[in-house]
Amino acid sequence: MKAIILENAGGTENLKLREIDKPTIKEDEVLIEVKPMSINPIDVKTRSGKGAFQKLKDENPVILGWDISGTVIETHSSKFKLNDEVFGMINFPGHGKGYAQFVAASESHIALKPKNISFEEAAATNLAALTALQAIEKAEVKEGQNVLIHAASSGVGHFAVQIAKYLGASVAGTSSAKNKEFVLGFGADQHIDYTNFEWENSDEKFDFILDTIGGENINNSIKVLKVSGTIISIPSGLNDGLEEKAASVNANGFKMLVQSNGNDMKKLAELLEKGFIKPHIYKAYHFDEMSNAHEELEKGRTVGKIVVNF
Ligand SMILES: NC(=O)c1ccc[n+]([C@@H]2O[C@H](COP(=O)([O-])OP(=O)(O)OC[C@H]3O[C@@H](n4cnc5c(N)ncnc54)[C@H](OP(=O)(O)O)[C@@H]3O)[C@@H](O)[C@H]2O)c1
Repeated sequence: MKAIILENAGGTENLKLREIDKPTIKEDEVLIEVKPMSINPIDVKTRSGKGAFQKLKDENPVILGWDISGTVIETHSSKFKLNDEVFGMINFPGHGKGYAQFVAASESHIALKPKNISFEEAAATNLAALTALQAIEKAEVKEGQNVLIHAASSGVGHFAVQIAKYLGASVAGTSSAKNKEFVLGFGADQHIDYTNFEWENSDEKFDFILDTIGGENINNSIKVLKVSGTIISIPSGLNDGLEEKAASVNANGFKMLVQSNGNDMKKLAELLEKGFIKPHIYKAYHFDEMSNAHEELEKGRTVGKIVVNF
C-alpha cells in the first residue's frame, strides 16, 4: 500500500511516499481503506521533532496522521461490518499511522459516517472537532453562559463556536479582521479582533474561555474570566502556570490533551447528521502533495480545515 513515512524530524523533505505492507488487524479492530484524511498542527509539530515525536521516534516506520474517513474492508469487530463507512481520530496520542492507504483502527476510536456527510467532511471532523467537544464538555458549558473561543476561525475554534452555540451559550470568537465574517457566519454572536482589542478595558466577562494560542493570550484571557469561570488551554508547552493564573482570579484553569473516543465520535456524527455542526474545508490536497499541505498549515492562517485526498 502507499504510505507517507517520516524518515527524520525536520522539514517536509523528510515526508517520503513509500510502498509498504498493509497493516494486519487484531481483535476488536477494523481495516479501513482511507478516502480523505485531514491534517492538524500536531502533525506539523511532530514532523519537525516536537509534538509527539519523542514518543514515536523509535517506531519503524513512523507514519504521521490521525484523522481519517473511509470504508471498512476487513473486520475483527462485532460493532462494524464490511463496507461500513466510518470516520475517526485513530489512536491519539499514540501512533495513528493515518498517512496511508489502509489504516488499522480500534472499534473504540471510530463511528459510522452519517450518510448525508461526504468523506471529506467526515475526515475534517476529527481531532479538531473532538478537541472542541471534549473541552466544552469538561467545562460543562450550559445554556445562557457567556463563552469566548480564541482563534474562532481555526480548525478547533470553528467547531467550538458551533458546539457552544448548539448548547445555547452566547459566543464571542477572536480572529483577525479578515476572518470576521467567517466567525460570525459560523454562529458567533460577537467578533473580537485580537490584533487591536484592549482586554484590560473590557467590561465583558466570560464563564468559559477556550485558549488555542497560549502565552500572552492566557494573560489577556484571565482579565476577562468570571470568578468561578473556567479556562481550558490546549497548545502544550505554551500554557505553563495556567492553573495558578486562573486561581489568582478565583477561576479554574485546565490544560487538555484530546483523546481518541468512539463515543465522542458518535456525538459528532449526530451533530453533523442533524446539521448542528459542519466543517469548513479551506483547502484540499492530493496525497502526493502532503508536503504542500504541511507547508500551508504551518503558515498558521488556515480557516477551518485542510484535507488530503487519495
Ligand atoms: N491539546 C490538544 O489536545 C490540542 C488539540 C488540537 C489542537 N491543539 C493545538 O491548538 C492550536 C490550534 O489548533 P488548530 O488546529 O485549531 O489551529 P489552526 O487551524 O492552524 O489555526 C489557524 C487559525 O488561527 C487563527 N489565529 C492565529 N493566531 C491567532 C491569535 N493570536 N488569536 C486568534 N486567532 C488566531 C488564524 O486566524 P487569523 O489569520 O485571523 O489570525 C487562523 O484562522 C495548535 O497549537 C494545536 O497544536 C491542541
